[in-house]
Amino acid sequence: MLQDVTLRVYETAREVADAAADLLLEVADNLSGMDLEGFVALSGGSTPKVMYENLSKRGPVAGKSLSRLHFFFGDERNVGNYDERSNVRLALEGFLHPLKIPLAHIHAPDGAAADLEGEAARLSRMLELHLPRTRTRIPQFDLVFLGVGNDGHTASLFPGTKALDATFPGYVANEVPQLDTRRLTLTYPVLNKAAHVAVLATGESKAPILAQIFGSTERETKYPIEQIDGPKVLWLLDREAASGIPPEKLRELSR
Ligand code: 6PG
Repeated sequence: MLQDVTLRVYETAREVADAAADLLLEVADNLSGMDLEGFVALSGGSTPKVMYENLSKRGPVAGKSLSRLHFFFGDERNVGNYDERSNVRLALEGFLHPLKIPLAHIHAPDGAAADLEGEAARLSRMLELHLPRTRTRIPQFDLVFLGVGNDGHTASLFPGTKALDATFPGYVANEVPQLDTRRLTLTYPVLNKAAHVAVLATGESKAPILAQIFGSTERETKYPIEQIDGPKVLWLLDREAASGIPPEKLRELSR
């Protein structure tokens, strides 16, 4: 598949958050113009926090636009939604509740479910129920937000874990031995069918992994984030995170 990878580098993490919030609202407004519902998967970790605060500050106008969307999550940690480590809690508190997004549009994984496989199956059924399908019958998101870890993981697709090889288009419960935990995550078949993917990475801690991803091409082992190969992948980076990317690569991919 022809892939369109674009890098956009901003001076600060705040500007990255603003651009990501604009992108989400643009998707929502485009769908609204066609009187369509939209389907978005939110990422986890700490990076999205500034974006969520940005959305929340935009108030009821943003809330109206975003209320057309259904919000899923790329992954959830092995904690309850009330837990401060929860990706769901971060979004609920960050903008979903402040903007009064309808609860029926929030499809929150329960990372602490005793039967994690059963929870993955329930979430997968929600994808089947709500999302439009590609011609190969795979649930298709309009927009997926992702982050990237220092080991090149994304969502909860960690290096060396079974979910990397999952061919099932949905959620799976993934054993992550390096964190001694189990996590719910979307699999590549769904992630790679999304109409748009936006990867957010900010701060100097991301510079080494991004330098590897965009610097060396002869590496035989691909990082999990490099197996995200959907049609349109947009990287939203701040100057610090992008500081190790070769200038020629930045010129090639920035537009
Ligand atoms: C998680 C995320 C994970 C995250 C990256 C980046 O649960 O941690 O789903 O994939 O996006 O680890 O995390 P930061 O934004 O905290 O750097």
